[in-house]
This record gives sequence, C-alpha cells and structure tokens, in this order.
Amino acid sequence: MTPNSPIVIIVGTNRPNSMSGQIAEYYQNLLEQMDVSSVILDLVQLPHDFTVSALYHNAGKNEAFNSLKELLEKAEKFVFIVPEYNGSYPGVLKAFIDGLPYPNSFSNKKAALVGISSNKQGAALALSHLNDVFSYLGMDTLSLRVKLAEIKSYFDKGIISNTLYKELLEIQAQKMINF
Ligand SMILES: Cc1cc2nc3c(=O)[nH]c(=O)nc-3n(C[C@H](O)[C@H](O)[C@H](O)COP(=O)(O)O)c2cc1C
Repeated sequence: MTPNSPIVIIVGTNRPNSMSGQIAEYYQNLLEQMDVSSVILDLVQLPHDFTVSALYHNAGKNEAFNSLKELLEKAEKFVFIVPEYNGSYPGVLKAFIDGLPYPNSFSNKKAALVGISSNKQGAALALSHLNDVFSYLGMDTLSLRVKLAEIKSYFDKGIISNTLYKELLEIQAQKMINF
C-alpha cells in the first residue's frame, strides 16, 4: 500500500459505454474539484479471456490482468460504481475479485459504494451483497452508500439533474477523503 496513493474508482461492469463508466467520470471530476487525485479502473479493460487465462492455476500468467492487480495493490481507497444486474452486482465483478490474490487483496483498505439501477431501488441489494464480500475480506466500507435509482431519468451527458443525488455524491466524496 502506498500512502496518499490515488483513489481507485472501479467501474463494476465490463459493459462497453456503461452508465457506470459515465458515473465514474462524474465522480472523478467531483474528487478533482476537491483536489484529490483518482484513477478509473473500468472492468471493460479486463482481458476478454481473463476467467480462463488469469484465474486459479493461471494466476499471475496474464500480464494485462497483472497490471490491473498492481494498480489495486498500491491503492488504499476505492470507490465502487456498481450497477444492478439481475438483483445483485455484476458477475464479472465477482470474477475479478476471485482473480485477485486471496485473502489479502482488500484487507485493511477502505471503500465507498455507489449503486446504479434502472428500477427504483438504486441497487440497494447489490450493494448489500458486495458489502458482505468486502466485510469477509476485511475491507471497511463507508456507511453512506449512494443509491442512484432510475438513473436514465436523472443522468444524461455527464449531468445529474437530481439535486439529492448530486448532494449525496458530494457528501460521500468528502467523507471518503476523510475516511
Ligand atoms: C445484464 C443486465 C442485468 C440488469 N439487471 C437489472 C436489474 O436487476 N435491475 C435494474 O434496475 N436494472 C438492471 N439492469 C439495468 C442497469 O442497472 C442499468 O442499465 C444501469 O444503467 C446501469 O448499468 P450499466 O452501467 O451497464 O449501464 C440490468 C442491465 C444488464 C446489462
């Protein structure tokens, strides 16, 4: 872990041009306004065959996967942008976590969770599922989870039209800096 390393914003899906990716950029701008540096790790950057070439007996053999892993190793804090897929978080995010060295990839680190959904629940259940995994792995999560429900009604071309969503993201980002 490197002190004061940039916050890593993880886009929790590998869907190209995802809404989650766009929210990650919004979050990065927010942190920039607070003079905090961050990098975005979008799971779309994962090698397409990583579940075969980088997991289990092939751990460490895929260079592209290794460089993403190294980025995480240096980080102290994460923001996870998590879309709701079939009532939970995307399977590719779990496969990515399963590909990291077990059990210490996230222990004693810190994370903030942001959920995105097209329904009215804002990925609440997805965030709970993910929080359970992080608790198991020893990563502390910020108590304020931001749930961006009905995202298509409130986000377009980098602009959030819902005042509460904007305020909650700002409060969370500030708390994350002090976490
Ligand atoms: C495979 C898949 C499953 C989804 N399941 C749900 C769901 O259970 N509930 C929901 O509200 N939205 C669901 N969505 C919609 C996404 O939450 C929505 O598209 C949102 O924009 C975030 O996803 P994105 O980052 O991939 O754009 C699903 C989308 C995909 C691609």
